[in-house]
Amino acid sequence: MAVIAHKCPNIQITIVDINDEKIKAWNSDNLPVYEPGLKEIVEECRGKNLFFSTDMDSAIQEADIIFISVNTPTKTYGYGAGKSADLRFVESCARRIGEVAQSDKIIVEKSTLPVRTAESIRDILEVTSNNCQFQVLSNPEFLAEGTAIQDLENPDRVLIGGEQTPEGLQAIETLVSVYAHWVPREKIITTNLWSSELSKLTANAFLAQRISSINAISSLCEATDADITEVAKAIGSDTRIGNRFLNSSVGFGGSCFQKDILNLVYLCESYGLNEVARYWEQVVLMNDHQKHRFSRKMVSTLFNTIADKKIAIFGFAFKKDTNDTRESPAIAVCQDLLDEQAELAIYDPKVQAHQIYKDLNISDPEAEAITLCNDPYEAAKDAHAIAILTEWDAFKDLDYAKIYASMKKPAFLFDGRNIVDLEGLRAIGFDAFGIGKPNPKRNNMIVS
Ligand SMILES: NC(=O)c1ccc[n+]([C@@H]2O[C@H](COP(=O)([O-])OP(=O)(O)OC[C@H]3O[C@@H](n4cnc5c(N)ncnc54)[C@H](O)[C@@H]3O)[C@@H](O)[C@H]2O)c1
Repeated sequence: MAVIAHKCPNIQITIVDINDEKIKAWNSDNLPVYEPGLKEIVEECRGKNLFFSTDMDSAIQEADIIFISVNTPTKTYGYGAGKSADLRFVESCARRIGEVAQSDKIIVEKSTLPVRTAESIRDILEVTSNNCQFQVLSNPEFLAEGTAIQDLENPDRVLIGGEQTPEGLQAIETLVSVYAHWVPREKIITTNLWSSELSKLTANAFLAQRISSINAISSLCEATDADITEVAKAIGSDTRIGNRFLNSSVGFGGSCFQKDILNLVYLCESYGLNEVARYWEQVVLMNDHQKHRFSRKMVSTLFNTIADKKIAIFGFAFKKDTNDTRESPAIAVCQDLLDEQAELAIYDPKVQAHQIYKDLNISDPEAEAITLCNDPYEAAKDAHAIAILTEWDAFKDLDYAKIYASMKKPAFLFDGRNIVDLEGLRAIGFDAFGIGKPNPKRNNMIVS
């Protein structure tokens, strides 16, 4: 919404949220989300054509177009628990809009939703509203956290789905005209509602599948001394495969991939497509396997015990350039290491302490075997091992000789993102391991 405000000075955007704290933060100097370039845009537009408020009813009444962008987490209760999307927040938005609106509006699904949710939204609006006409559009968001602003400013495509009626097509055109302020028309794809809704789930499923596929092969590389970087380069040079999204790692995270695939799995199951459901579910299972495989490899390499050993954790966010930790592989790895009674010294340049404690279910930080550090050198001091869990650029250029000197020996380093020069580290003295990398000390390895 900040990018739309920035690109369309003639459009007034009001962002409303039921969370008062978040709105306060959006109106302050400390935005609740870290994203390169976002602060600058918000500061330029805020108070001009970009407003943050908790006054939902006024915002609903004044708007011509309403984007529903609320959370759609995986359901944790009742039918579909653990897989289907929890649509209660979407439904409550639709009800409120229906009850409060006094004029016709276009309602845009910006949240990621199961196919045919637009039908439910339309039904709710119809029964709750006071003679107003609504057109429901699907306009899924394809941005990636960490590069959100550049993805939005220069998108591969914008997707807008709507009813194929004269009114639906007119609503689609209205939304097209918003994006056309900066996105070339040929990049704005219009479809029917269901294709648009399904395309978002499918896009995330394909992206996550690529990561799980390369991670599956990384396991085989470690067993055979093939090098995953070389394999990725060799297969990625085939234009049918393409070279992007082939970086092997400790696993994907983020609020979307797992949630959206599980949502797709549930959708398939509810249409009786069990084989299709199992196919996609494997992408998530493989990702879980990769995270635990990483922790197990650490334990077995450190002579099968890490109890009371200090382990330095470099990075906690699910990827670089974000402070988001949702479904971060660091959570699973740290949890495994704590279960093995290790002592963790965690450093992340952007994630706040309270978030790390929350993610690791720690109520009393004093009593736990966790220290949060202000820099990586402090984290690594007297540690038996380092685990790089987020690919922050800064981790590539640390003074690893200084770090090595301050660590217990033998000093181990496990690069869960394949960002450091393993040979260079070995020359310093480290026992260094990457994902899917040949292992000079094969007898220390576990494979499965
Ligand atoms: N984060 C991403 O990178 C990304 C990318 C593409 C799509 N999406 C989708 O966008 C949606 C939102 O994701 P997010 O990461 O921003 O979630 P989020 O949990 O960070 O934010 C959702 C916000 O909605 C607010 N909210 C909930 N119910 C409300 C209501 N009835 N009225 C007003 N506000 C309400 C919450 O207070 C919260 O601040 C999800 O469906 C997600 O799948 C997210």
